[in-house]
Amino acid sequence: MRAMVYRGPYRVRVEEKDIPAIEHPNDAIVRVTRAAICGSDLHLYHGMMPDTRVGMTFGHEFIGEVHEVGPSVEHVSPGDRVMVPFNVFCGTCYFCARGLYSNCHNVNPNATAVGGIYGYSHTCGGYDGGQAEYVRVPFADVGPGLIPDWMDDDDAVLCTDALPTGYFGAQLGDITEGDVVVVYGAGPVGLFAAKSAWIMGAGRVIVIDHLDYRLLKAQEFAHAETINFTEHGDLVRHLKYLTEGLGADVAIDAVGAEADGNLLQHVTSAKLKLQGGSPVALNWAIDTVRKGGTVSVVGAYGPLFSAVKFGDAMNKGLTLRMNQCPVKRQWPRLLEHIRNGYIKPSDVVTHHVPLEHIGEGYHMFSAKLDNCIKPIVVPSAA
Ligand SMILES: NC(=O)c1ccc[n+]([C@@H]2O[C@H](COP(=O)([O-])OP(=O)(O)OC[C@H]3O[C@@H](n4cnc5c(N)ncnc54)[C@H](O)[C@@H]3O)[C@@H](O)[C@H]2O)c1
Ligand SMILES: [Zn+2]
Ligand SMILES: [Zn+2]
Repeated sequence: MRAMVYRGPYRVRVEEKDIPAIEHPNDAIVRVTRAAICGSDLHLYHGMMPDTRVGMTFGHEFIGEVHEVGPSVEHVSPGDRVMVPFNVFCGTCYFCARGLYSNCHNVNPNATAVGGIYGYSHTCGGYDGGQAEYVRVPFADVGPGLIPDWMDDDDAVLCTDALPTGYFGAQLGDITEGDVVVVYGAGPVGLFAAKSAWIMGAGRVIVIDHLDYRLLKAQEFAHAETINFTEHGDLVRHLKYLTEGLGADVAIDAVGAEADGNLLQHVTSAKLKLQGGSPVALNWAIDTVRKGGTVSVVGAYGPLFSAVKFGDAMNKGLTLRMNQCPVKRQWPRLLEHIRNGYIKPSDVVTHHVPLEHIGEGYHMFSAKLDNCIKPIVVPSAA
């Protein structure tokens, strides 16, 4: 089969690989029809993620058709059109039993924090991902869901990560009626978080980024107010000014460890490796939320130390909530919202990239070229 292969930072290409085989009775092999490149893939692409091995196939957002199933698989059959959550999870361990699918212990027992994620380094279990023609899906009775007939492929692939994660970000904000919600990051996750904030009762939604084309999307798609942080010398002060001096009720970090906006943070993290990332957006979130407010973090951070303003969060009495998204937990409500027309996930899709050209897709998405927001990867046989 053809598959995306990691060759080192900023180097990905398409190579011939064996079609994966059933390794366990509850495995399925899925023929991929759509994959996506996620902001999280950029952390791998930039060489930020520990234990990202040369030869690995990335891709944790994908859908496809079931090609083959192991002998114990009962819930899906060859020919089924399935969407696969980005989390690999067993469904029965202590954590899965509590709905913490992204913290499953059985699929990544060497890790004390994260569970399993397709195509996301050996830190996250070492599973090959779906930016390929075929992918092995462990626990096939647990993760995959049938794609409803009325749902098209581009909407479905966004249900495997970006949309549920944005929705989860808003959920973690514990938004109550009329709340002022500020969202850091106008990438796909931030756009979906902003859209979801309204559904959860927000009274005002403000999205912050420095890319005007993405802020325009936040206005059109998520009906949000927007701020380009490069236009304000003191963003925190400006946000206080917009919120009667108090700050927002809820701040959502949909940026993560590779934030722009502070040269010192960039140098100490990306260049000098003195910290595990540049937590600019997280610190802005802590600074711009009111005392007693909630900070929701869905932007991804590595395991290492970063200079987060924890003391300020403590002294302001903030609630900090965060996790990788337990995708399958979000599906019942999200599918209803999509069916009823509240959210059209594929509205954020800007590019369809043939699998053979995925290297160009990574470059475009990473460098934010051609007004790229969300690239969808299409294998040639899809
Ligand atoms: N928790 C989860 O389950 C989960 C799932 C998917 C993605 N993620 C993470 O969410 C984050 C966003 O993902 P995405 O696909 O939308 O990525 P993306 O790279 O497309 O979007 C990130 C956006 O943040 C903006 N940005 C950079 N610095 C900023 C700052 N200081 N303030 C405000 N905005 C800033 C960028 O310009 C960009 O538009 C990433 O860190 C990704 O790893 C987490
Ligand atoms: Zn992702
Ligand atoms: Zn589990």
